[in-house]
Order: sequence, then C-alpha cells, then structure tokens
Amino acid sequence: MKILVAYLSQTGNTKRVAEAIYDQLEAEKEIKPLSEVESLEGYDLAFIGFPIHASNPAAEAKAFLEEKGKGKKIAVFVTHAAPEDQEETRRYLENCRACLCEADLVGMFDCQGELAQSIIELLAKSDNPRHRQFAEYGPHTKGQPDESRLEKARAFARRVMRECGGA
Ligand SMILES: Cc1cc2nc3c(=O)[nH]c(=O)nc-3n(C[C@H](O)[C@H](O)[C@H](O)COP(=O)(O)O)c2cc1C
Repeated sequence: MKILVAYLSQTGNTKRVAEAIYDQLEAEKEIKPLSEVESLEGYDLAFIGFPIHASNPAAEAKAFLEEKGKGKKIAVFVTHAAPEDQEETRRYLENCRACLCEADLVGMFDCQGELAQSIIELLAKSDNPRHRQFAEYGPHTKGQPDESRLEKARAFARRVMRECGGA
C-alpha cells in the first residue's frame, strides 16, 4: 500500500496536522506540499489537508480536489479558526464534501488552528461586520492545533488505515 500525505498550509497549522498523520502510517509513504503533487496516480490512498478560507477549502486545494480527486481514495483533514462544534464549522465540512463528490472519500477530520495575528488585524479593520466578528475568535485560537488535537489527528489516521485495510 502506497500512501501520500499532501498539505496546503500558509501559517503552519495544517502542516503540523499533516506531520502527525504521517507519523502514524505504517506503509510506504510520502509527505509533501500540495503544490508539489502533480497527480494522485500511483497512490492507493491520499490524505489531503488544507485550511478553510472564507468558509470553503482554500482555493488551491479546492481546484486540486475537483480536478485530480476524481475516483481517488482520499481522506481529508482541515483546519479552521472557528471552534469545532459550531454550526458554521459543519457548513465548512459540507463545502469540502461538495468538491469531493466524485472522489472516494474515506474520512474527514477537522480541528481548530490558530488565526495568525496579521489576519486578525486585517479582519478587525474590515467594513464587513461578519469579518469583524470572526476576528474575535483570534485570541481563543492561540496555540492550536494543541497536543490534544494532534492526538485526535493521529487517531483519525489509524482509523482510516484500519478501514482501508492497511496496518
Ligand atoms: C484568507 C483567510 C480566510 C480565512 N477564513 C476562515 C473561515 O472562513 N473560517 C475559519 O474558521 N477560519 C478561517 N481562516 C483561518 C484559517 O482557516 C486557520 O487559521 C487555519 O488553521 C490556517 O491554516 P494554515 O496555518 O495551515 O494556513 C481564514 C484564514 C485566512 C488566511
């Protein structure tokens, strides 16, 4: 079984989750930024991770999944600044599913990631009240994904592997 872990990560949160997942895989495996992945041919399973931008998969990830995910066995992992248990977070995941409708989606994991200070400042100055409201999450996201969230990511990786007939 050959497995790819690919990630898109501007500020490092999704990359940390990617590394936690990669560590758990007992198989032939590779980890790389999504920008270095030309195709999913030759992999039996791909874990693909990205941040949520404006309630959707970050644009580069969305394009990749729609174009190259068709018929491929994919497990997705996502980070976002909103807490995991919010109604809007469920909407993010629905938006992710929508661009994977032609893939063989074998699992989905999401967790909170720190909102970078530069983004907080940008949102706080916005004319849009939703953006300003969103900036208020900032201080509550410090240090995420923390060890407990990384542990959940590891458990996710093990579960997907079991369900896909790996180790
Ligand atoms: C342009 C932009 C838009 C964002 N939009 C959202 C959003 O709609 N909802 C949310 O919960 N987080 C949003 N975030 C926060 C990121 O999803 C979060 O900080 C994520 O963990 C970043 O991951 P990375 O460090 O791997 O880039 C946004 C961040 C940026 C830069």
